[in-house]
Amino acid sequence: ASSSPDIRERTLIAVKPDGVQRRLVGKVIQRFEQRGFKLVGLKMLQVSEDILAQHYSHLRAKPFYPDLVDYMTSGPVVIMVWEGYNVVQSTRSMVGHTNPVEAPPGTVRGDFGLHVSRNVVHASDSVEGAKGEIQLWFQRQEILNWESCDQAISC
Ligand code: PPS
Repeated sequence: ASSSPDIRERTLIAVKPDGVQRRLVGKVIQRFEQRGFKLVGLKMLQVSEDILAQHYSHLRAKPFYPDLVDYMTSGPVVIMVWEGYNVVQSTRSMVGHTNPVEAPPGTVRGDFGLHVSRNVVHASDSVEGAKGEIQLWFQRQEILNWESCDQAISC
């Protein structure tokens, strides 16, 4: 029915190069797993300027854009697709404000972020935006469907 909760909503989360370099990948993943979201896509890659230009096309005119490209290409990123009810809005609030100074403790950026230009993670900001970002970063066959199981012996 149209009123049933959409538990298949998806978002794109990236651990940016500073998060990888500071060995925060596991901690970021753990937060979303504990919250009950489902990891359905995951890869590590060295980002190309071409994909960044598409991902950050709305920021091309910003004065910080060249620095953003340098930062995002300074090392590998871990890029993920997470699935679950209201996952876009929930992960945005778990990630916290873009500027870590304004991100409350308990959020990823509030706990680990140093500066707006080194803010550890990216999270899609809308369901529509997430669809575009997932299409940009992932091929269809790289996103996997699987069932949860808490009692391994009976699965
Ligand atoms: S805007 O102008 O409102 O669209 O910007 P904002 O949403 O705050 O930020 C968009 C992304 O740009 C990054 N950002 C920066 N990078 C480097 N240097 C500076 N000064 C800077 N300011 C903002 C910010 O981390 C956002 O990245 P994502 O990956 O979208 O979270």
